[in-house]
Amino acid sequence: MSRIQNIKIAPSILAADFARLEAHAREAGEAGADWLHVDVMDGRFVPNISFGPVAVRALRPLANETNTLLDVHLMIEDPDRYLEDFAAAGADRLTVHVEATRHSHRTIQAIKDLGVKAGVTLNPATPLVMLEEILPEVDLVLIMSVNPGFGGQRYIPGSTDKIRRLRRLLDDVNPTAWLEVDGGISPANAGEVVGAGATVLVVGSAVFGGPKSVAENVADLRTAVGQ
Ligand code: DX5
Ligand code: ZN
Repeated sequence: MSRIQNIKIAPSILAADFARLEAHAREAGEAGADWLHVDVMDGRFVPNISFGPVAVRALRPLANETNTLLDVHLMIEDPDRYLEDFAAAGADRLTVHVEATRHSHRTIQAIKDLGVKAGVTLNPATPLVMLEEILPEVDLVLIMSVNPGFGGQRYIPGSTDKIRRLRRLLDDVNPTAWLEVDGGISPANAGEVVGAGATVLVVGSAVFGGPKSVAENVADLRTAVGQ
């Protein structure tokens, strides 16, 4: 099945300079980023705490101005408690961990009922079979290529095979769903990840960190995936 989707770049604002979040996120939007990835962490599902709906609300105006979408990754226990808050704050996508909700089919329906695109994600050690029954229902699947909780980690090499296997499953049951990959992505491995079937790349430290500008980093990623 040939995919017509062009590759989306989704900078993770967790890696941005929080002393000037609006300016840094705007740089990413103006550099041509497609989505802004918002990593929500509760200190329970992952060993780190980040931010909540207030960050989505703060970013909503600049997302409108820069024509980017707010791609919210909920690394929180029992995410059903906060779906309405994140939808009201302006999330365009809400992605939940299968490990964090008892009834993922109902959660996916609840997100869609809020008028938000519904995503599901799984930790590196969680097998794809956990997604099998809900794969036809989702708008996106996020593959964690690092253990969730922190930016700046190394890409787990076995992720590429997992992406390839998921690509085959999606081509069968849900070919228009986005296949998003998250963690340790850089120009050095972006080509490999897209070649395995990814259509959205979450990139934190390789966009907002390092000596180059955000615009140069985004351009390097586009070059690496040939778009
Ligand atoms: C990790 C987050 C990732 C992370 C990506 O729990 O889900 O989105 O911020 O950052 P890098 O690209 O630096 O690995
Ligand atoms: Zn993330």
